[in-house]
Amino acid sequence: MVHVSATPVLALRGVSKRFGAVQALTDVELEVHAGEVVALVGDNGAGKSTLVKTIAGVHPIDEGAIEWGGKPVSISRPHDAQALGIATVYQDLALCDNIDVVGNLFLGRELQKFGVLDEVEMERRAREL
Ligand SMILES: Nc1ncnc2c1ncn2[C@@H]1O[C@H](COP(=O)(O)OP(=O)(O)OP(=O)(O)O)[C@@H](O)[C@H]1O
Ligand SMILES: [Mg+2]
Repeated sequence: MVHVSATPVLALRGVSKRFGAVQALTDVELEVHAGEVVALVGDNGAGKSTLVKTIAGVHPIDEGAIEWGGKPVSISRPHDAQALGIATVYQDLALCDNIDVVGNLFLGRELQKFGVLDEVEMERRAREL
């Protein structure tokens, strides 16, 4: 038996999202507890990617609430999600062809030193990884 804590790490409460005439998400309820691996399954166009993107801050929700550790949070941009510790690996390619591996790894969260990019530290951490 898997023991799960009472308070979910992440909870979606009545989340809805619309793209113009397309209702992508309708009143979604989701709870993810610590130690759980949750799979989201559905047909093409069911709204899986849209759901993940609302959690990731790519598409802010129209209605409902998102709770993190039992507390309501506002995730209106990717940085909000990142600040909570939410990382996303996308189905569609999200890499930039014009920058190298290290640049892609640190995209949007580049390390800086004295106001300039700290290339040495980013390369060191990339090698470590
Ligand atoms: N940026 C967008 N603008 C307009 N409509 C969108 C946008 N993103 C998704 N949609 C629409 O929202 C609905 C849900 O799409 P979504 O990509 O979330 O489905 P999915 O479950 O991830 O599908 P797949 O299995 O093909 O990846 C679809 O009708 C899609 O056309
Ligand atoms: Mg998808």
